[in-house]
Amino acid sequence: MLEKIKAISESVKNKIADAKGSAELNDLKVKYLGRNGEITALLKGLKNCSPEEKPSLGKHINALREQVERLISEREQILASNELDRKLQEEKIDVTLSVRDSAVGGLHPLTLARNELVDAFVGMGFEVKEGPEIELDFYNFQQLNIPKDHPSRDAQDTFYVDDNIVLRTQTSAVQARTMEKEKPPIRIVCPGKVYRLDDDATHSPMFQQIEGLVVDKGVNLCDLKGTLDEFAKKFFGEDTRTRFRPSYFPFTEPSVELDVSCFMCKGKGCRLCKGTGWIEVLGAGVVNPIVLKNCGIDPAEYSGFAFGIGIERCAMLKYGIPDMRILFENDVRFLRQYR
Ligand code: DAH
Repeated sequence: MLEKIKAISESVKNKIADAKGSAELNDLKVKYLGRNGEITALLKGLKNCSPEEKPSLGKHINALREQVERLISEREQILASNELDRKLQEEKIDVTLSVRDSAVGGLHPLTLARNELVDAFVGMGFEVKEGPEIELDFYNFQQLNIPKDHPSRDAQDTFYVDDNIVLRTQTSAVQARTMEKEKPPIRIVCPGKVYRLDDDATHSPMFQQIEGLVVDKGVNLCDLKGTLDEFAKKFFGEDTRTRFRPSYFPFTEPSVELDVSCFMCKGKGCRLCKGTGWIEVLGAGVVNPIVLKNCGIDPAEYSGFAFGIGIERCAMLKYGIPDMRILFENDVRFLRQYR
């Protein structure tokens, strides 16, 4: 038995040291220490030995068992640490590698223009208001002094849903709604979509406007000029000059059109301003007393000014876009330039 113990003790060392993985090591554990293992068998065999031999043989077997247990546990630690090293090596992440350029979105030029236009007025204390795109004829036309037979509501221009409902043709409808609900002082801008039967390089059946309205005591044309001049400088550049030209709108009296000095040639005359040095930007005027009265505001006490800006037109001017239709085609090669 002693020989056998020695033989196991000698061979077991290399066997355990050669175990290449935890499965192999586990097999060895079973082979020696398991219920039917070799060392277990030795212990079982003790009962057949003489009482004189037993204590010393028992000691040897126990020493062998301890040796095997220790070797296995040491080998386990080595294998685990090797495994960790391998994982660290294989699953290494190189944080210094450059990342692939991923697609980052950006705002549409119309959204950029709209934000800038709104910001210019919010900076002057205007409040943002919105209204419905499917609008009553009453607010889109009648309250704004555009009677049923007015040429601007010709069936060729306006999308009618029925006799009394239209797709709003102008954000001016929000003016009428606001004046009806709120008491002056009123100072609002109303950005939003409007619809007209129109389709060419500078017109689209759907486009956007920003309506502005101020109603208070003693508001006059000079206030309008000052406000729009400030706006033009903010939106088109500090050295922009403005001028009014007489115009006509049923809801303002007097009515004007605002020109800004050409920001491309600084007024010398170029292709953008068609050689005139001036660019037409928006319509405006002093709110017609008839409109104030229609909306329940006393024109003897209050007065106001209003203006309407085309957002597409402003974006085209500012970003040098020659054809309005490009804005709606959403070709990413075009849109990327404004990211
Ligand atoms: N609603 C006009 C249009 O669509 C623009 C406009 C002009 C609005 C004068 C106004 C204004 O508020 O006072 O052409």
